[in-house]
Amino acid sequence: MATDPTQVTVGIHDLTFATTSLCLTHEELARHTGAPVAKYHHGIGQTAMSIPTEDEDIVTMAADAATPIIERHGGGRIRTILFATETGIDQSKAAGIYVHSLLGLPPHIRVVELKQACYGATAALQLACALVRCDPAQQVLVLASDIARYDVDSPGEATQGAAAAAMLITAAPDLVELHTPSGLFTRDGMDFWRPNYRTTALVDGKASSDAYLTAVDGAWHDYQTRGGLPFEKLRTVCYHQPFTRMAHKAHRRLQQAASITAPLHTTDDAIGPTTTYNQVIGNSYTASMYLALTSLLDSDTDLGGDSIGFFSYGSGSVAEFFTGTITPRYRAHLRTEAHRAHIARRQPIDYDTYRHLHTYSLPTDGTPHEVTRQTQGRYRLSGIRHHQRQYRTAQS
Ligand code: CAA
Repeated sequence: MATDPTQVTVGIHDLTFATTSLCLTHEELARHTGAPVAKYHHGIGQTAMSIPTEDEDIVTMAADAATPIIERHGGGRIRTILFATETGIDQSKAAGIYVHSLLGLPPHIRVVELKQACYGATAALQLACALVRCDPAQQVLVLASDIARYDVDSPGEATQGAAAAAMLITAAPDLVELHTPSGLFTRDGMDFWRPNYRTTALVDGKASSDAYLTAVDGAWHDYQTRGGLPFEKLRTVCYHQPFTRMAHKAHRRLQQAASITAPLHTTDDAIGPTTTYNQVIGNSYTASMYLALTSLLDSDTDLGGDSIGFFSYGSGSVAEFFTGTITPRYRAHLRTEAHRAHIARRQPIDYDTYRHLHTYSLPTDGTPHEVTRQTQGRYRLSGIRHHQRQYRTAQS
């Protein structure tokens, strides 16, 4: 008998992330921009940003993030890999195929790449849930991996960062059961974009913040219209965090939209636990909201049985508000120590090294190029040959 998709509980069974091997602190950045460091620490809520070595990219980070998931659960039930990114490395081939190969997964898997700015991973998550509802025996690996890069000396520079999140989407998940409905909002705008010929994003900072907040209203109202949970039922909300102060602004805006005049928790109490990782990693575009969730789950707060909200925003723009319930058993399945160790192992770099890495690029004329081993991660980009990127394990 066919499964009734509405009766299947689906969601995030496992969740982990990886970031780069280097970081630039905002103290070091402030010494060169002349901005008061308080603007960075308190004004935008950032203290450091992850910077990739020459042999790290979206593939190496995503493979690094996904490896512990495959080690714990195996890859035999995965039928789909969805790779969300706005830092694509090829106009044709999906970055997830390199990850599939590095992880040694079986061939009977579909692999595709998705793009809609920072929203892409949420589209991937919803597609994954739909696939699992249709066939609860299948699992979907969702990867979100990005390197946020703006021009030096631009306002966006202080919000750079890099990370990958990996999620295993299954029936009867161990971490978060995801609900329907979703609230959706799309509006054509040019708040942030990156034409194919540029390595850095173009952005209208003020307009992008306004567009984000307009999308909070739009997605929330659609969510309510479709019978979503009232705001009071939500323990907190994981927001897309281009910089962590944005999540505080968004939460205040959501409370206004929901006509909440006396919230149960202060904004700092509600949002603080979701910002721990993004504060020191910076913007990771598609991965950002899922790092907020990881940070929340890894915090001391016991969330078992609580419902939480998610607000995903991708410039251009598309947004989605949805909710989930944290399972009573989630704590037994976390990877808190590994996440903290991953961040702690990053090596701080000085401003000159940062500037060198910011301008570094691979040759585009087909000449063979070797990249020396620098990463502390499991995988590295070892070079480029005949216009083909070469990946290998970091030890080889
Ligand atoms: N002490 C404490 N706070 C200070 C301070 C000081 N000494 N100096 C300034 N501040 C505060 C300001 O008051 C301001 O706070 P409010 O926003 O609450 O008013 C905050 O620090 C930032 O100051 P500015 O507005 O002067 O900063 P800026 O113009 O130089 O840059 C920015 C801010 C426009 C957001 C810039 O970082 C940027 O362009 N970022 C990239 C775009 C972005 O992240 N947009 C977010 C929405 S788009 C999105 O979400 C998609 C995505 O991932 C990109």
